[in-house]
Amino acid sequence: MSAHIGVTGLAVMGANLARNLARNGFTVALHNRSVEKTDALLEKHGTDGDFVRTETLQELVDSLEKPRRVLIMVKAGAPVDAVIEQLTPLLEPGDIVIDAGNSHYEDTRRREAALAAKDLHFVGIGVSGGEEGALNGPSIMPGGSKESYDALGPLLEKISAHVDGKPCCAWIGTDGAGHFVKMVHNGIEYADMQVIGEAFDLLRSGAGIEPAEQSKIFAEWNTGELSSFLIEISAEVLGHVDAKTGKPFVDVIVDAAGQKGTGRWTVISALELGSPVSGIAESVFARALSSQAEQRKIAQEVLAGEEIAVEIPANFVEDVRQALYASKLVSYAQGLDMLTSAAKEYGWDLKLDEIASLWRGGCIIRAELLKEITNAYAAEEKPANLLFAPAFTKAIADVLPAWRRVVATAVQLGIPVPVFSSSLAYYDGLRRKRLAAAVIQGQRDLFGAHTYGRVDAEGTFHTLWSEDKSEVEAVDTH
Ligand code: 6PG
Repeated sequence: MSAHIGVTGLAVMGANLARNLARNGFTVALHNRSVEKTDALLEKHGTDGDFVRTETLQELVDSLEKPRRVLIMVKAGAPVDAVIEQLTPLLEPGDIVIDAGNSHYEDTRRREAALAAKDLHFVGIGVSGGEEGALNGPSIMPGGSKESYDALGPLLEKISAHVDGKPCCAWIGTDGAGHFVKMVHNGIEYADMQVIGEAFDLLRSGAGIEPAEQSKIFAEWNTGELSSFLIEISAEVLGHVDAKTGKPFVDVIVDAAGQKGTGRWTVISALELGSPVSGIAESVFARALSSQAEQRKIAQEVLAGEEIAVEIPANFVEDVRQALYASKLVSYAQGLDMLTSAAKEYGWDLKLDEIASLWRGGCIIRAELLKEITNAYAAEEKPANLLFAPAFTKAIADVLPAWRRVVATAVQLGIPVPVFSSSLAYYDGLRRKRLAAAVIQGQRDLFGAHTYGRVDAEGTFHTLWSEDKSEVEAVDTH
């Protein structure tokens, strides 16, 4: 019996994807560098479906139907290249190599080009949903050639999460598009997590609401327009009591947020694209600041607070909910706008409605809101920015007063809300008729003859600052 797909790398994510494939009726050939892992998987979960045990990559390749599909699930970076190097000489033109790890999209672009030169398909797929998702239905973002998706897509769609009967998996675009979209998913994930943290801090430090009570508030929020996986698990985390001390669990966790790097990648890429993902960036920086333990210790001793006593408004909880909604929406808007910029840069035809739709289930940022986001981009007339879709223009207008009140209150109380406030600044920046950028252009022209445009004339100009301050037409040098 030849297998439909091979999986090499059987740590938890690889093992769970293999089991998910087998449970969905596919015959899965298994390979791992040390055969013990393969045997352990077969012993524990061999009854999940049809598996083929292999000991070498050659055996793995020989066990597959053609075109062969080989899914690599090893640590991102050099280990992926090492497996590709061993694997490719064993393959034939038309075979498909799949990298399901959290690889950087530039690596995926490089690998795709290298394998295409050997007439092999290379498919970088973003997989979200953690271990649980991998086993029971993740959100899947595959890149690579359309041809390879025809051979691989049906398998991936079958094992993915489904919402309203639709798979949370669709072809994203060529070469690194899948991994790029997964990276931006993680950027949005960072911002989403941070805004929830900011809401918690405001409710605790501003309104004195204890974690147990907040757990109920979050559970309540999870029944409405904020309904999402991250709100749901936040309710669980906040309701949890530490067994050792009897204190709220959240009070015994060290408040220094870790990061594996995908949020940082999003911001680096956004900077290169000139894409203003300020909320995502602030959420990465907030994690970095939280981890500066030494400086935070000193700052608590030497830096003044001078907080301004303010009356907490009666409906503060609802205000915070609305501010959270608005900030979350901006994070999605920024992430999706970044995808639009990347599509132009890399020649990808990214379908934002399909991307929003496949984020509706299985992934970490799955949320009720994504249904409406999908609809916004499925409309005949695509909005240039998510916030311009009529449904969201209205939604933000409704919550704007609360959003402003919450940010103002936070500032007065000295509670840092970098994503709430930067998202509001983004919103105001977009809609403001005149921006301070005009001053910057004047400064640049003065110190560096960098030139400027005029509101009342075409062309590029320079003022002779050190002469008679007359204006000349200039060649634009930026
Ligand atoms: C997912 C997650 C997953 C992982 C993050 C955690 O979509 O399933 O994003 O990829 O949990 O990489 O990232 P940090 O360690 O950077 O928070």
